[in-house]
Amino acid sequence: MGGPAEVRYIIASRPGLAGDVTPTAAAGHARHRLTELHARMILVTGGAGFIGSNFVLDWLAGTDEPVVNLDKLTYAGNVRNLDGLAGDARHRFVRGDIADQPLLESLLADHAVRAIVHFAAESHVDRSIHGPGDFVDTNIVGTFRLLEAARAYWSALPQASRDAFRFLHVSTDEVFGTLAAGDPPFSETNQYLPNSPYAASKAASDHLVRGYHHTYGLPVLTTNCSNNYGPWQFPEKLIPLIIANALAGKPLPIYGDGQQIRDWLYVGDHCSAIRHVLESGRAGEVYCVGGSSEKANIDVVQTLCGILDAERPRADGTPYASLITYVKDRPGHDRRYAIDARKITAELGWQPAETFETGMRRTVRWYLDHQDWVADVTSGGYRDWIAKHYGG
Ligand code: NAD
Ligand code: DAU
Repeated sequence: MGGPAEVRYIIASRPGLAGDVTPTAAAGHARHRLTELHARMILVTGGAGFIGSNFVLDWLAGTDEPVVNLDKLTYAGNVRNLDGLAGDARHRFVRGDIADQPLLESLLADHAVRAIVHFAAESHVDRSIHGPGDFVDTNIVGTFRLLEAARAYWSALPQASRDAFRFLHVSTDEVFGTLAAGDPPFSETNQYLPNSPYAASKAASDHLVRGYHHTYGLPVLTTNCSNNYGPWQFPEKLIPLIIANALAGKPLPIYGDGQQIRDWLYVGDHCSAIRHVLESGRAGEVYCVGGSSEKANIDVVQTLCGILDAERPRADGTPYASLITYVKDRPGHDRRYAIDARKITAELGWQPAETFETGMRRTVRWYLDHQDWVADVTSGGYRDWIAKHYGG
């Protein structure tokens, strides 16, 4: 029997915190106090970003299995998302780059990780259009380095631990390109047809992950998920941008005709899908994850405006929808995404808990209650981005 619970390992004892640990300090702390435990520990990359921080928080709310959280803290990463874990010994935050292979190797050696859950990426399509270089560096080269470190580590494990090890790659539905109105939703067998530098970089990373399974036998799992929304999403993405602009009385920018369709999924449901795949997914398999919740962008924005009208009416009584402004379209803008999630539901029993309506209401309330967080992340470089992309 090679279950993860049987594997012995040494865990670093540095008290978990949402802090900033340099690679050198990380290695030193790792040897500070050694305790032998059963191996139930995961390495999360990008765990200070939107989905990654939701995943880490949900994970530690549901299990005592410790997390090593590796994040470079780009503009999109924020340790404040993890404030709820301050002083929690089950969480160890390490600031670093997934492309730093020596750091990866030392983290894996020091922690005897049983699974890697790989979120770290450059994730914003518009930024990839302005500057694709970072997307190649992190999404392709970074994933390659992580795979190399994982392969070296996994190859040296005892057989039972090798069998139990998993590399879960978190990917996107954008790798499949775009759908026309009557097309069936994307499924695991769709052809790869990425249309933006972001989508192309994620497609390349998916191919590398697949190749490492086929060639070396690395036990990988890939998820391709649709659009997420919920707490701690950086306000460059449609839903938090609209909420922030509406509350500030600024225009609500709709690209093109606003009829592009996305399949929206509450972030907590994506996190639960990842947990299902990690625990029960078959190595080498791909799982499509989606909310069966196709909405046109203009309808998403109208819904947000309606919720805000009820929750936080404007002082002058005008509806938030009066701020809607049509702007120049995104180059190469994909028309429609939709996911057929029947495989993960049938094989692993996963289903979303939130509907579009309940998830949107929760999300608006979260942003209303966390305007200090929004103010914090929308200072500095964020303002430069808005000026560059929307023209002032
Ligand atoms: P995000 O941009 O909010 O967070 C990305 C995180 O990765 C940040 O904390 C950032 O600091 C970190 N990071 C970036 N480069 C790094 C590097 N080189 N080394 C270490 N850390 C680095 O992204 P997100 O929306 O949370 O997306 C997470 C993952 O899920 C991505 O791989 C993305 O492609 C995928 N995904 C996102 C969505 C969505 O709707 N947001 C949907 C499907 C899949
Ligand atoms: O489909 C999954 C993908 O969803 C993830 O892989 C990406 O990481 C994530 O960013 C998201 O990509 P999108 O490009 O779909 O998300 P975004 O929030 O940027 O845009 C959603 C839709 O809204 C899209 O059709 C573009 C449109 N939009 C976006 C912005 C920022 C606007 O109309 N106006 C805007 O100002």
